[in-house]
Amino acid sequence: MKTPVSVVIESVGAYIPPKVLSNADLEKIVDTSDQWIFGRTGIRERRIVAEGMSTSDMAIEAALSCLASSKVPAAEIDLIIVASASPDYAFPSTACIVQHAILARTAAAFDMEIGCTGFIYALATGAQFISAGVYRNVMVIGAETLSRFVDWTDRNTCVLFGDGAGAALLTQGPAGEGILAFHLGADGSQWNLLSLPAGMARLPASEQTLKKGLHYIHMEGRAVFKFAVKAMDVSLKALLDKLGKTAGDIDLLIPHQANSRIIDSACQRFNIPREKIMMNIDKYGNTSSASIAIALYEAYSEGRIKKGDLVVLVGFGAGLSWGSLAIRW
Ligand code: UT7
Repeated sequence: MKTPVSVVIESVGAYIPPKVLSNADLEKIVDTSDQWIFGRTGIRERRIVAEGMSTSDMAIEAALSCLASSKVPAAEIDLIIVASASPDYAFPSTACIVQHAILARTAAAFDMEIGCTGFIYALATGAQFISAGVYRNVMVIGAETLSRFVDWTDRNTCVLFGDGAGAALLTQGPAGEGILAFHLGADGSQWNLLSLPAGMARLPASEQTLKKGLHYIHMEGRAVFKFAVKAMDVSLKALLDKLGKTAGDIDLLIPHQANSRIIDSACQRFNIPREKIMMNIDKYGNTSSASIAIALYEAYSEGRIKKGDLVVLVGFGAGLSWGSLAIRW
């Protein structure tokens, strides 16, 4: 029998747009306050992509940042997966645009669209190609330009989201290291709680869809909140069971950054102390598919991940979908 190949994260990278939009700035746009936004979500500010830039541009920057600290040259990347709910186009895939720009000429390339769980699904998918012995090096990117899909007159949503991109390069590694297990889930019966209704096949863009604002993000906040707390719980439990570990074995938990109250509530139930949780929602808001990728990059850059650490990623989002993934660093 063939020994399964281990899949490790060789390097990480990110692109954070320089333009900051603070809660104070939002107070001038909609009827809101820093007190409400920070108190209900933990967000102080978010980043907005520069005019003329889009999801692929940020994905390219994140990929180049990831390659800059990697031993693997772009020419040796076999596959690029971009997770995004806000790709440049319906087609071609953003991954193809990245492939061209970073000169990964022999890489296959495709996108995955699983809302905020996208980066975890993409890591799990990329890892399968490597562990099956099909590919050696897979670039996984989470990138979002959500600022172009929020209704800036709707205080329920416009205060929540931000732009950015993060990347991780997967490669073969020594046994016992790297991705140990993952758990993925979905409940399509609740797809309508979080969606971008118009602009595609079901509701092509028309005067009517524009008038009704159907090309903006629609979210039933309270219902999604309840789901998110449960999804983190279910997914973490399933992952820990697969690993035969307890929450106490986790060295760093990197959750999707949607709401600090969602993260706090899950962590209280698992009794995970605050210092073992990566949180940067205050600076970036909810960057959907990019949020875990950026948080992973920051945690690594800040020296919060050491060799041998058990790092657990957990996310939830549109679909509805959820997922978790454990890495022995
Ligand atoms: O990443 C994908 C998954 N997404 C999520 O996980 C998001 C999950 N949901 C949430 O994080 C929270 O539900 C929100 C942050 C979106 C909203 O917080 P909430 O505590 O659930 O508030 P709510 O929607 O129940 O609204 C409470 C009140 C309402 O006023 P009334 O009806 O009680 O008078 C809202 O109109 O807060 C009002 N409100 C605001 N007030 C000031 C809603 N947005 C704002 C705002 N500023 N920006």
